[in-house]
Amino acid sequence: MSGKILQVIHRFLKKKASARGFEYFSEDLVSPVQDLMLEHGVLRRILLIYRHFIKTLSRGDTSNLPLLQRAAQMVNFFIENYHEKIEEMYLFPVFKKKGLEKSLIDELENEHELGRGMTQEILSQLSLSEPDIKWIISRLTKYVDFYEKHSAEEDTIIFPQFQDLISRPAYENLGKLMETSEDFLFGKDGVESMLLEVSSIEKELGLKDHG
Ligand SMILES: [Fe+2]
Ligand SMILES: [Fe+2]
Repeated sequence: MSGKILQVIHRFLKKKASARGFEYFSEDLVSPVQDLMLEHGVLRRILLIYRHFIKTLSRGDTSNLPLLQRAAQMVNFFIENYHEKIEEMYLFPVFKKKGLEKSLIDELENEHELGRGMTQEILSQLSLSEPDIKWIISRLTKYVDFYEKHSAEEDTIIFPQFQDLISRPAYENLGKLMETSEDFLFGKDGVESMLLEVSSIEKELGLKDHG
């Protein structure tokens, strides 16, 4: 029954959209917001890896530090140098131009900078022959706390508004730009290769017994 109702709603919205001159649902379009939320999902999995290290390092187990290094490198090149750049170049300016969420946008931008600094510090500490484990635990804890808040605010305040603030063609162009950039930066499998990397770290840590 609910399937039939959904079909009726779908047909109604499609008709309404085509009257307004755009496609209601394009099969091959990956929406930028969907993409950004998937990237937050990857990040949340990395934060779980960080949490795992907070626990194991706290009980003195330093055997898997190279895997922590791989996770932090992923944060650096996938989240900080790609995902956050997209937000800074294409999302935040739209809010700024319209004078919306001013203090939140300033805060999110500052947090990007703060996070990049923290990741660099974590990576340099991990490259030492005798890293300061106590310091790493406190940095990871700080990073997890602040990034959970950061991504939750983007998921619930920024992303839902963004789609309505720009035209449909501009939104679709951003989707294409993101897809092309992902293929260029991460290889032909795009974000899929990032998912494989996070899965491989989880597997090696014994956090995952499937996939
Ligand atoms: Fe962000
Ligand atoms: Fe984000």
